[in-house]
Amino acid sequence: MSIPLKLTIGPIDLQTPVLFAPLAGYSDLAFRLGLRRLGGIGLAYTEMLSPSSLLMNKAKRLHSLLATSDEDNPLGYQIYGTNAETLARAAVLLESRGAKLVDINMGCPQRKISGHGAGAGLLRNPTEAVRIAEAVVKSVAIPVTVKLRLGWDLQNRVAHTMVPALEDAGVAALTIHGRTRCQGYTGKADLDEIRKVVQSARRIPVIGNGDITSPAAARTMFTETGCAAIMIGRGPLKNPWLARDIWNDLQGHPTAPPPTREEWVQFALEHFDRMVELYTPKGAALLFRKWIPQYLRRLLAGRQHLVTMMMIQDAALMRQAIEELFEIRPLEAPPRLEAEPEPDDPLAPGEEN
Ligand SMILES: Cc1cc2nc3c(=O)[nH]c(=O)nc-3n(C[C@H](O)[C@H](O)[C@H](O)COP(=O)(O)O)c2cc1C
Repeated sequence: MSIPLKLTIGPIDLQTPVLFAPLAGYSDLAFRLGLRRLGGIGLAYTEMLSPSSLLMNKAKRLHSLLATSDEDNPLGYQIYGTNAETLARAAVLLESRGAKLVDINMGCPQRKISGHGAGAGLLRNPTEAVRIAEAVVKSVAIPVTVKLRLGWDLQNRVAHTMVPALEDAGVAALTIHGRTRCQGYTGKADLDEIRKVVQSARRIPVIGNGDITSPAAARTMFTETGCAAIMIGRGPLKNPWLARDIWNDLQGHPTAPPPTREEWVQFALEHFDRMVELYTPKGAALLFRKWIPQYLRRLLAGRQHLVTMMMIQDAALMRQAIEELFEIRPLEAPPRLEAEPEPDDPLAPGEEN
């Protein structure tokens, strides 16, 4: 089976079939631009946005959540919720602000979202999910995509049964994460189930998502499922060069050498500088903390660096601390960083059922 190298969603021509996932707390403009500059990204998404916050313009972080630039293109804005009319109005607002694509979240497993019927909660009510998609599609001229999980639980993997109705509703593409809501992030993405979803689509592209952390895994997703494109989420957080490497591999280009320590530090430094622009210096110094353990792990930095950097509250000091990483002597083995956050599982313990 040949792997598609291009993808069109409505009028949008993607330059690569590698999409960067919506990731709450991570897929902001500061990080997206870093990834785009390394290459390989065909389309990126904002994190999921609350339509009522958008409409009332009330979320404190709204400005930074919506921030984009010419280089940050093409970009999809993801919205979530249960009220078709509110979602449709939010889509209209986004379109009026220049959005070129809107995505509806039908996969978020978090109890505070899915427990109220939004995100993956919509998979318990496919008729309503399709009605919402139809309302949003009708309200805007830009393409509307949907991102969903396989179903609520293993007994109810309804995603493939929803595909024809979502197509008829006018949805322009679907992304399928190969897990159920109740699986959270446990186990492995089920490629057989993703293939079922792909095969249920008659007209629209299906994007395969889940556990792609290498060019080999990307190839497997394409060949095992027949998907039109792939989406990567946690992979680029740990290795921002992942999309570049996947894209090189898909084109049959030789593998690029792995990033040097200097390139890692430079990436972190530029990431931080963009966060300063996006969130103010003070905000950036605090928000950058969640990235520190990951960067330090890649740089084989010792525990003392972690302890010192996690205490910094001032942007100038943070920048200086990042610059000092150019000079450190790496440990011989990856450090055990107790404070490392686990972005792998946004489901809090005990939320599984
Ligand atoms: C920290 C975190 C935040 C996420 N936020 C969103 C989100 O806002 N919207 C969404 O549709 N999916 C969200 N996801 C799910 C990812 O987009 C993706 O479907 C999932 O991580 C599986 O892909 P991966 O194995 O490549 O990470 C999030 C996942 C993580 C780990």
